[in-house]
Amino acid sequence: MVQIKCNNKLFSSIIGATFLSLTLIGCRGQKSENPPILPIQNMVEQTSFGPQSKNEFYKDGRAYRPQILGTVEFDKPKTDKRLYEGKEPDSTEHDPKWVKKIPLKLSEKDIQRGQAKYVVFCTPCHGYAGDSDGLVTQRAGGVIRPSNIHDKERLALPVGKIYDAIHNGVNNWNMPGFASQLSVEDKWAVVAYVRALQLTRRATLENIPADIKAKHGWSNKQ
Ligand code: HEC
Repeated sequence: MVQIKCNNKLFSSIIGATFLSLTLIGCRGQKSENPPILPIQNMVEQTSFGPQSKNEFYKDGRAYRPQILGTVEFDKPKTDKRLYEGKEPDSTEHDPKWVKKIPLKLSEKDIQRGQAKYVVFCTPCHGYAGDSDGLVTQRAGGVIRPSNIHDKERLALPVGKIYDAIHNGVNNWNMPGFASQLSVEDKWAVVAYVRALQLTRRATLENIPADIKAKHGWSNKQ
């Protein structure tokens, strides 16, 4: 016969632990009127009031407070379709007319900010240069197929449509939208940077300012 040697202390702690875990497990799944026992609270229990509920703190006894007379929306109303949606004002939902010009004045600094945002939010899928070879794309093994921003269709996209892709996402969230992560100004800055990336493969010597050409000894004839 096998004998298990067990000292008293060890034995009682094993029994104790078994009993405790059985008690705790036993509490799960049973209906009770009492609030559950939560050893780690994590702010689960908080005073909150549902719609139409009472709160005696206020004279009228209503938990939900009526709006103060004359309350106006904070921030500017977003009526400028060109700026906030990348669409012309006469656009309809079924017939969107995308703006062809960025509706903001952007400086070189803004484009640099666009680059910084592009690096954070777009490179994982589209890659640094926009060739769709980001690390996520490589690791996804063909499941994620971002558009190559240098292909013919993408070059033909109006800026408003690129803005819309960033704002709302593409093709039922095949590409996620960044409406809440990027401000309106940042989204247009990213659009400008996407255009700048596209230009990097298409610029000719004619596009380079004369003084820079002179400095480097470049000429259009080369
Ligand atoms: C999670 C991966 C992912 C990220 C991050 C991502 N994209 Fe995309 N993007 C895609 C995919 C996938 C498509 C192709 C969607 C399709 O056609 O089904 C796409 C398509 C596009 C298109 C083409 C839209 C069109 O109408 O043809 C543009 C432009 C674009 N992305 C720009 C961006 C920019 C700018 C960012 C950063 C703000 C970004 N994407 C971030 C995955 C991503």
